[in-house]
Amino acid sequence: MDSLIEKDPLIQKNIYIKIKNHGWSPESYRKAEINFYKFPKLILNLNNLFLKSALIYVYRKIFNQLRKVVNIKRKIFSKLNKLNKKNNSNNFNEFKIRDLSSYSKTFQEKGYCFVSNFFDENSYKNLLGNWPNQNYFALGESPGKFYSFSFIFDMIDSNLLKQKSTDEKIKIVKNLNKFPILENFYKFILSKNTSNNITKVINNSNNEIWNCCLTLLTHAKEESFLIPHMDGYIQRENVPKSINVGIFIDGNNENPKGSGALGLYEDNEFKKPIFIPENLKNTALIYDTQKTIYHGFNFMEKNCYRKTINLAFKQC
Ligand SMILES: [Fe+2]
Repeated sequence: MDSLIEKDPLIQKNIYIKIKNHGWSPESYRKAEINFYKFPKLILNLNNLFLKSALIYVYRKIFNQLRKVVNIKRKIFSKLNKLNKKNNSNNFNEFKIRDLSSYSKTFQEKGYCFVSNFFDENSYKNLLGNWPNQNYFALGESPGKFYSFSFIFDMIDSNLLKQKSTDEKIKIVKNLNKFPILENFYKFILSKNTSNNITKVINNSNNEIWNCCLTLLTHAKEESFLIPHMDGYIQRENVPKSINVGIFIDGNNENPKGSGALGLYEDNEFKKPIFIPENLKNTALIYDTQKTIYHGFNFMEKNCYRKTINLAFKQC
């Protein structure tokens, strides 16, 4: 690793691997650290490297403890909420997404496509109306990936993905049983039909089997940030075929760029945008993770918010 990076107290050692394998920019990461920990200028401007490093270390420790306290409080409140009452009277179970065949050409050519009106009106209304409150979302703990995510289904093992039934899969998602409509939604997303529809964007002429390997809900607000990165490794040997689907449920459409519009970039410092979504309500950005495209969103601005559902599908 570059000696300037090794001497920089703003770049923690566990980030070296992200810089090397996922293309994180050291400069973007420095900004992320300052945004996350809010180090005072007095510390950042110190010339004495030893003192600066020591103060940054102490500052981080204190902030991490405070973050833990907020997360414990949120966890306690979420435990007190036995069942989301709103869901009891209406157990919606008719989720529909639009047919994605017409996006196949764009996806093949560019490695991504952007879909408007992703869900039908009823599905969208039910997802938006039954979104869990913030007690179910722990505060983000990483400066480079500073937003909250929750209700995580994450199964990377291909054999497990093929063997497990949908009911077995959703059992691993914490708190999902408190939200019957969300539970129905996860069953829908993990179904064969949904995999078949989503993979219409790729040229699946060999009838390969694809499975949803990741589903989660995210919540972001002012100051949230996602450093431009690549999902797979930069050296892309033996990387399985996979596609990511970032579904925007809600955001401030008056300022999408400042509202966490996950964009695609040629570079890792937001300087060369390829595509930035302009509508964050019921839309989806679908991209091929094998294509070397950076993606991320810059520091979120005042009065901005964002709710998304992130999915990943892999061939297995
Ligand atoms: Fe990513």
